[in-house]
Amino acid sequence: GYRLVDVPDRLSPLELAPLLSTHDLGQSIHFHESLPSTNEAAFRLAQDGAEHGEVVITEQQTAGRGRRGRTWVSPKGLNLYFSAILRPELPPQRAPELTLVAAVALAEALREADAEALIKWPNDVQIGGRKVAGILTELSAEPERVHFVVLGIGVNLNAGPEDFPPEVATTATSLSQALGRRVNRALFTASLWGRLEEWLDLHHEVGFDPVRERWKELSATLRQEVLVRTDRSELRGVAEDIDASGALMVRTAGGSLERVLAGDVE
Ligand code: BTN
Repeated sequence: GYRLVDVPDRLSPLELAPLLSTHDLGQSIHFHESLPSTNEAAFRLAQDGAEHGEVVITEQQTAGRGRRGRTWVSPKGLNLYFSAILRPELPPQRAPELTLVAAVALAEALREADAEALIKWPNDVQIGGRKVAGILTELSAEPERVHFVVLGIGVNLNAGPEDFPPEVATTATSLSQALGRRVNRALFTASLWGRLEEWLDLHHEVGFDPVRERWKELSATLRQEVLVRTDRSELRGVAEDIDASGALMVRTAGGSLERVLAGDVE
């Protein structure tokens, strides 16, 4: 026999806590109906001494931040928007590794939900060539020591094409669009946080190598012909590898190996 259990599709601690299998991540959850940006709120909490693993989560963002000063479309009640406060024992120059850890966890959680997710360099997660999730990592550090990292993640779960502005609608998708059915946000969140904690633990214990290997398996960019446009130049070649800072190693037609930083690319 079987039992159908209804899990409410809400993201408040009351609903989330019983679903979580994590030890640190989400042990303290700051839930809001609406916020300008969870990254902004988490950054402030961290400055005020919040602990490793505390999470800010909201039903809606009114000023969601994307990379390179863009906005992150954050309609109410449909998707997942959260920021985790991390206090890793890492030198600041290794902090970018955490973005790759998050990309791997995201792709795996989406795959566990039956979508063929891949990571598009530098750190977009895509289904069928369309962006389904984004990561924005913000760092507070001294030269020798990380104070904290805010790991902000947005996942389009139940947004339909009509929920995105026209300029985004052609390049974005959601998990529910990919699967053709509604997604329970609370269950997805619990699954994602589980993956995230597993990969953060492995990264802490073993280092970057297993993260890099998994990233390469899940990459939509490696082994592909890429055209990289920077402010001043253009580079064409085949993406061969990434390094620990998330830089892409590109083999040009001339045979040289060029290192492309995420920050260089539009
Ligand atoms: C990107 O441009 O790809 C990064 C998008 C990151 C969006 C998430 S949503 C939760 C968190 N709070 C923010 O303001 N941004 C991140």
